[in-house]
Amino acid sequence: MSAKKFNIAVAGATGAVGNQMIACLEERNFPIETIKLLASSRSVGRRLDFRGESIAVEELTESSFKGVDVALFSAGGGISEKFAPLAAEDGCVVIDNSSAWRMDPEVPLVVPEVNPHAIAQYKNKGIIANPNCSTIQMVVVLHPLHQKYGVRRVVVSTYQSVSGTGQKAIDELDLQTRAILNFKEYEKKVYPHAIAFNCLPHIDVFLENGYTKEEMKMVNETLKIFEDDTIGITATTVRVPVFYGHSESINIEMKENVTADEVRTLLEKSPGIKVVDDPENNIYPMAIDAAGQDLILVGRIRNDESIPNCVNMWVVADNIRKGAATNTVQIAEFLVKEYL
Ligand code: A2P
Repeated sequence: MSAKKFNIAVAGATGAVGNQMIACLEERNFPIETIKLLASSRSVGRRLDFRGESIAVEELTESSFKGVDVALFSAGGGISEKFAPLAAEDGCVVIDNSSAWRMDPEVPLVVPEVNPHAIAQYKNKGIIANPNCSTIQMVVVLHPLHQKYGVRRVVVSTYQSVSGTGQKAIDELDLQTRAILNFKEYEKKVYPHAIAFNCLPHIDVFLENGYTKEEMKMVNETLKIFEDDTIGITATTVRVPVFYGHSESINIEMKENVTADEVRTLLEKSPGIKVVDDPENNIYPMAIDAAGQDLILVGRIRNDESIPNCVNMWVVADNIRKGAATNTVQIAEFLVKEYL
């Protein structure tokens, strides 16, 4: 990394992902000259810690980005739509964690282990998009397989934690669980049904084709990241009563001859991945082990015995870290090292 230091802003600093972005910047020793922590007017008066200093949260306004080199956004799609172009006009590069800009053909959609070359396109609009959390952990695993064997078709089902919906959903699972265990009435504010002791086959809104928007994000974002629209992908996304860590059952059909053992060997050497696959000893990826660290855990790798050249696997990652904050900070690291 260059010796240069940068003026950084985090928009949505008080949220689940924003908080983790601040922690990642600190953990990874990002070269920071100044840091601005931005949220809504509701948070003015709050202070957050960074490198042992207590920093006042400021209200996000149109003039927040003057003099800022790089802004990490995680304050929702509406905020990104409005403020990312304003920040870019002020010469700031925005790395946006919302879905607002992901499918804009001029905006690169980046997972550093897969397509770091796309970061160069930040020059188009001054915006780089961070993919959906479920997409990130899937493409890091698909990438080495696609390069070596060519991926023909992917069938994925997700088991997604509530932290992906934000702090209010973490609170809702907590409150509902306590209420149900104490035979009390509970409130449903975030999801249309109870999430405690339940699974909801419903993430984001339903679309005309019968899929949810989350499911179509996994399809469309993956094709964009791979710059290859020949891969067949179908997804079912499910919210489960887990606080942190998304799990995915992925079935991958490849074009070339391949076995589960070859897939395991390749993934063991691939960046960002840890193979955790010793089922005889009850060792496999689990959300409780993925939470709080950055590697994507892969296990239960086995041949799909119903068709040739096809494997099943179970892939788990911390959705707030690699699925959001860490990926954003990794993009920022590439950006400042190569381009700023
Ligand atoms: P605030 O805490 O002031 O509401 P999460 O994804 O965990 O729900 O967090 C959302 C983040 O986006 C929070 O930091 C929240 O700030 C911020 N945010 C929400 N609405 C606005 C807004 N209108 N202006 C600025 N920040 C906002």
